[in-house]
Amino acid sequence: MATYSVLIVGMGKRGVHHATAFHANPKFQVAGICDIDQKRLDDAAPKIGNPEKSLDATALAKKLKPDVFCFCTLPNLRLDFVKLGIESGAKLIAFEKPVAMSSNEGLQIRQALDKAGTKAVVSHQHRYGEHYKKVKEIVASAALGRVHTVYGTATGWAAHMLSHLIDYTCWFNNYEPAEWVMAQAAGRGKLADLHTSPDYLAGVVHFKNGVRGIYDCGAGAPDVPEVPYWWRKCRIGAHGSEGFAELMTGGGWRAITKSGGYQEGPGGMDYNFDMPPYVQQMADWLDDDKKVHPCCFAHAYQGFEIMSAFYRSAGEGGQIALPLTSGTDEIALLKEKIPAKKILLTLPDSVKEYPA
Ligand SMILES: NC(=O)c1ccc[n+]([C@@H]2O[C@H](COP(=O)([O-])OP(=O)(O)OC[C@H]3O[C@@H](n4cnc5c(N)ncnc54)[C@H](O)[C@@H]3O)[C@@H](O)[C@H]2O)c1
Repeated sequence: MATYSVLIVGMGKRGVHHATAFHANPKFQVAGICDIDQKRLDDAAPKIGNPEKSLDATALAKKLKPDVFCFCTLPNLRLDFVKLGIESGAKLIAFEKPVAMSSNEGLQIRQALDKAGTKAVVSHQHRYGEHYKKVKEIVASAALGRVHTVYGTATGWAAHMLSHLIDYTCWFNNYEPAEWVMAQAAGRGKLADLHTSPDYLAGVVHFKNGVRGIYDCGAGAPDVPEVPYWWRKCRIGAHGSEGFAELMTGGGWRAITKSGGYQEGPGGMDYNFDMPPYVQQMADWLDDDKKVHPCCFAHAYQGFEIMSAFYRSAGEGGQIALPLTSGTDEIALLKEKIPAKKILLTLPDSVKEYPA
């Protein structure tokens, strides 16, 4: 007998991943699915136990009153669905990155969750990959000596990739708070995309414990030649006084440490592998308040603040202190400030995503 009922809104790529993982876990029962596209509902339903279907998320949430309200819509839909999850009495809200598209919206989401006391998780699930876990294990083992730098690069643009880079590096740095950031941004092409972003962003973070975060995301990011698949050309790692360890999202991990010499190993990001433990840890947190999900909202929000502050720095210039104390619309700021200059690509292959 399942313990927790689930409603999933959005039956696109990620909604189906979530629905499949919830359906496969005996702790959960997929009670309902919603999309504004009837075909997507009809295609998904038979694979996940034929739950109730609806084109109207509000009506279905009010009817089913699910224990878990999950939504996997594009980034333009966040606050209204968080509010709907709270109103329907859900114990946990599971949603996709990025947390929000502006600090205005992110702050409202945090206030609504805090006021209601509702648990929430944000899908930074790449961390379940064996290569991600191995790098975390090496960093946590102290084999790198004193960690002074964490870093992340990705060829995909910020609304897709940057919150992943920030979250996993913050994980390596034990979610130490950030004190300030500084960034530059270039390229207006993806300001018209639903994953609205500058084409390229480069930024640094000063964490309270002295660790430096270095991020390079989008059209100007360096290649990861070890990985052929464009979307998985991400390099994420940590440097310390006695070595370094890093993973490539699409292709394994490597490390050099003073005590262990050169080591390397396999791993490739895989939704089928990453989603089951991500969903299981939701059940664990629902069962026991002390078993806080590693992808809890508090962790995601920390990364979201860093990303918002990068945008402010790119728009306003200079360093931005954290935590942010007020909200604004960072995308509007970038639309106003990013110059209409031709973007300079690192990889010729990137021209398909960042046309001149
Ligand atoms: N965590 C990851 O690894 C990862 C990977 C890919 C995408 N994402 C994120 O997941 C989110 C969704 O991406 P996707 O690729 O699944 O998008 P998608 O376009 O495939 O799916 C979105 C679905 O939401 C539906 N929808 C839109 N408005 C709706 C409404 N009002 N009510 C009900 N349904 C509605 C759409 O019809 C569509 O089926 C994005 O935020 C994206 O950044 C995360």
